[in-house]
Amino acid sequence: MKYMYELFFVSNNTHKYSEIKSILKDRIIDIDLKFHKQNIIEIQEENIKKIALEKSICAYNILKKPIIIEDDGLFIKSLNGFPGQYSSYVFKSLGNTGILKLLKGNKDRSALFKSIFVYNNGVTTKIFTGQINGTIATTITPGGWGYDPIFIPHKMNITFGKLKENNQKNEFSHRRIALDKFVKWLNQKKKIKNSYNKTLYS
Ligand code: IMP
Repeated sequence: MKYMYELFFVSNNTHKYSEIKSILKDRIIDIDLKFHKQNIIEIQEENIKKIALEKSICAYNILKKPIIIEDDGLFIKSLNGFPGQYSSYVFKSLGNTGILKLLKGNKDRSALFKSIFVYNNGVTTKIFTGQINGTIATTITPGGWGYDPIFIPHKMNITFGKLKENNQKNEFSHRRIALDKFVKWLNQKKKIKNSYNKTLYS
């Protein structure tokens, strides 16, 4: 039987877990991704990468096993990057309706979604980022979660919400771009380990 490497995704967000699980399913076969549902308090910090790194340390200290965490942000150009690192708080307080109100009458609706994953096994800490440019819709569409109903990725004319309904969101998302880098890194690590073992035992 093939050895499966246990990896915990630590988060309070089940939507993220199911997207990650589905993205990884077709890519790596020796990772057994488990969900550890826990809210990790984020530090107040301007730099989203620093927030993610701190989060990974907290998550590792809770489980003392290999973990990944993810931190995201929606950055709207004409609002000087707002809500950015405050995306979670702003979603809970203003929601999509509030964002559309802020952009009312604004011609420049460009925005981007950023995903930052941090892998931490207590020895190695590694960051993987994904970014997708797009625009903010003028109305809220059905489907998806969080900002999905108002974010239209570049070169598409429908929101993440609609794409999610069509089972296509994972092909385009910021999450998928960051996870592709994570998978590439894991495969490289595996190759190095295998060639080392071959040299050692040949
Ligand atoms: P955090 O990483 O949990 O702090 O997420 C920041 C905010 O962005 C939360 O309000 C999420 O709901 C939202 N968010 C993160 N990723 C996505 C996504 O893929 N679609 C829609 N909203 C997202």
